Amino acid sequence: MSENGDIDYGPLEGLIGDWQGDKGLDVAPEPDGTENNPYYETIIFTPIGDVENAETQVLAAVHYRQIVKRKSNDKVFHDETGYWMWDAAAGIVMHSLTIPRAVSVLAGGRYNGDENADGSITLEVSAGLSDEDWKIIQSPYMAENARTTEFHHRITVGDGKLSYNETTIVDIYGKVFEHTDSNELILQ
Ligand code: HEM
Repeated sequence: MSENGDIDYGPLEGLIGDWQGDKGLDVAPEPDGTENNPYYETIIFTPIGDVENAETQVLAAVHYRQIVKRKSNDKVFHDETGYWMWDAAAGIVMHSLTIPRAVSVLAGGRYNGDENADGSITLEVSAGLSDEDWKIIQSPYMAENARTTEFHHRITVGDGKLSYNETTIVDIYGKVFEHTDSNELILQ
């Protein structure tokens, strides 16, 4: 692992920094239906250098910590951490995350260098219980009672702005629920 200043973070470069956003909307499952939670949050992306795997694969990695608070009571109701990793040789971006419900995800996707018309870039990653490559790990309790079956995350970043949409499919209360989160953040 190296931490020198010459690391090429590729499409992850624009993520690095401290972000804040107050346009969040969470749609979450409840026993009797759906809960809509407006939220605000901070996400801190920290460059951590590169990693060599099996002497051949080189990943550039960025760590993040996301803290999300409900607008209604200013209390933290989602705490998430993980890494975004860029495999330049393969053109693959990976997103690992863990949340303190005892659920972890390793999502992946391709990035071919495209930019949006405004110069921003969009990364898309997914994971699923039936995906061959990109998986979800959860505790026996969650697998039994609130099983995450799919995760999809799309993030757009550029010019000091970051926005994301994510969909987590949760099998809970006898139904399949589309748990969604989105926000727009500004680089501080
Ligand atoms: C900004 C991001 C997120 C927010 C604000 C959020 C918020 C919530 C809320 C409010 C609930 C309803 C239960 C409760 O009130 O605690 C919930 C349930 C759940 N979330 Fe999230 N969530 C987020 C992202 C995620 C992610 C990334 C995953 C997994 C990959 C996830 C997995 C779950 C699961 C499995 C449940 C069902 C547990 C239950 O309701 O008892 N969430 N989430």
